[in-house]
Amino acid sequence: MNNIVILVGSVRKNGNTVHLAQSFAEDAAIHNDVEIVSVADYNVNPCIVCNSCFIREGNQCFQNDDMVRIYEKFRNADIVVVASPVYFYGISAQLKAIVDRLHTPMRNTFRIKKLGLLLVGAAELPNLFEPIVIQYQMVLDFFKLESIGTVLVRGVKEIGDIEGSPALKEAYELGTSI
Ligand SMILES: Cc1cc2nc3c(=O)[nH]c(=O)nc-3n(C[C@H](O)[C@H](O)[C@H](O)COP(=O)(O)O)c2cc1C
Repeated sequence: MNNIVILVGSVRKNGNTVHLAQSFAEDAAIHNDVEIVSVADYNVNPCIVCNSCFIREGNQCFQNDDMVRIYEKFRNADIVVVASPVYFYGISAQLKAIVDRLHTPMRNTFRIKKLGLLLVGAAELPNLFEPIVIQYQMVLDFFKLESIGTVLVRGVKEIGDIEGSPALKEAYELGTSI
């Protein structure tokens, strides 16, 4: 059994990203401890580069905002799945704020071994996800993590567009494989 945290990067509580994340979680949650952490439920400030996390207890940020609750969820995580809408060819700003503030504890304190990536975007461009996938690959290399897989969904824009997409089954099966 693994502790899995799914970080959902859309503030739309019933949007395409969370739908994809829930499909992943459906079967994965039968054999694992799965928690969805959505940016919709937390207010997290960006990193201000004070570097005090280098020397603070647990490498946690000094900022006393909702990130305190998120650190708690990461303490025992074995696998982290990042689920994001594409915003300007990157992940959402709300999610990036969380990811940046995980950097030092990920390097020194957490025991995360594997990452997964779920992405949705409106365009049909073949290379839509390339910038994020390259970043994902670099993070895997830097932190010496294994990828459990990726599910990339093009052509979904409005709430509900992902309904009926074969990608939901793909995400479900990725969850089953854990
Ligand atoms: C600020 C912003 C920037 C976006 N940038 C892109 C983009 O660069 N490429 C793209 O394909 N879709 C882009 N989109 C569309 C979203 O990725 C798409 O609507 C997605 O389905 C939203 O996910 P959600 O339903 O989980 O919120 C953008 C949306 C917003 C709000």
